[in-house]
Amino acid sequence: MTGRADRPLVILISGTGSNMAAIVRAAQAQRWQARYGARVSLVLSNRPDAAGLVFAREQGIETVAVRHQDFDRREDFDAALAERIDAHRPALVVLAGFMRILTPGFVQRYAGRLVNIHPSLLPAFPGLDTHRRAIEAGCTVAGATVHQVTTELDHGPILGQAVVPVLPGDTPQALAQRVLSQEHRLYPRAIAGWLAAQVAARPAE
Ligand code: GRF
Repeated sequence: MTGRADRPLVILISGTGSNMAAIVRAAQAQRWQARYGARVSLVLSNRPDAAGLVFAREQGIETVAVRHQDFDRREDFDAALAERIDAHRPALVVLAGFMRILTPGFVQRYAGRLVNIHPSLLPAFPGLDTHRRAIEAGCTVAGATVHQVTTELDHGPILGQAVVPVLPGDTPQALAQRVLSQEHRLYPRAIAGWLAAQVAARPAE
């Protein structure tokens, strides 16, 4: 129990936001506020039409859209993101299906408190189209990885992984669905583990 602790979580999405929703639901069900002083304080999207924003609003969570098309330079977009994020003084910034490549400056700004979920068993298959690539390579298992974000794409210390079988005749869509359902368990578990470690290290904060 953390008393006065305040560990805001900011989640970045681009689309459906099913991982974000899983994190929000876990935070409620597992009482992250009481256990870790943590609450989802902002959901930010680069797409105003991201379905996940509707869910977040329904949960009473602040949302904001920052359209990447409104910026000529990646650095300027990232600076606008950072301004919105920093207003919440987040303990952790969570990338959950955020489909923009972030500048090294942005990554360094949140070093040690920026996490991502990637739909492969890293270090295998960084980048896009992971499920098709796993099937074509003949993998018998696939999965997802939660990792700290570094300036190298889909790379960084691993916080957790989930493994699923690749079944005969699998399509990329079928495999993606099997992996995604495990992502919804993995991501909240990894974040709760990160928060528990923060509480253990600095209980009074
Ligand atoms: C997930 O598969 C995640 O691993 C990847 O993008 C997808 C996002 O799905 N980075 P959702 O928006 O959380 O439903």
